[in-house]
Amino acid sequence: MPSVKASSIHPDLESVLVTEAQIKRRIKSLGRELREVYGNEEFTVISIINGAILFTADLLREIENPVRLDCIRISSYRNETKSMGTPQLIHSLTLDVTKRDVLLIDDILDTGKTLAMVTDLMHKLKPASLRVCVLLDKKGRREVDFEADFVGFKIPDKFVVGYGLDFAERYRNLSCIGVLKPHLQNPPEWS
Ligand code: IMP
Ligand code: MG
Repeated sequence: MPSVKASSIHPDLESVLVTEAQIKRRIKSLGRELREVYGNEEFTVISIINGAILFTADLLREIENPVRLDCIRISSYRNETKSMGTPQLIHSLTLDVTKRDVLLIDDILDTGKTLAMVTDLMHKLKPASLRVCVLLDKKGRREVDFEADFVGFKIPDKFVVGYGLDFAERYRNLSCIGVLKPHLQNPPEWS
């Protein structure tokens, strides 16, 4: 999308990678993909917050199965745009997932460290099945071997914001996914 359009959506955006309409369409088709796998059976959705909040909320409305919802929080191990170490679980599950069909939802699969860590933890709880759904996949950035079962969009190696994804906790509320103008990717006053 040309930059003129991007900055009319939000003045801080250099470009839009995924539009609001594309997100809506893809979420509808992800709903159908989930239906094909889970049939009419109940499953337990575990959303990794904050990033997956918007995606989870919209995807849930495309699911007709009985679902249970829980959220977990992972400590940020990044300094704005860069990965800094090892992710840690800081808010755990409240639902019991043993012998349940579990669908783990995250905003983006980047190095893979977060989802590798969370799926290891989940497997210890002995779910009947464990599948992973991510809105975005930056495959070129993988540092650990990890693939999601459901992927909304494959995107290039760019730091993106919007639709749940943040830069220093800002921009989660944009309805599209875009790339910030370069001078905004390092604002010293933000923390
Ligand atoms: P991973 O552990 O490197 O796969 O990173 C996963 C987490 O890093 C995601 O859940 C996001 O919170 C964050 N992240 C990775 N890439 C981006 C990005 O481009 N924009 C915003 N957050 C990102
Ligand atoms: Mg996240």
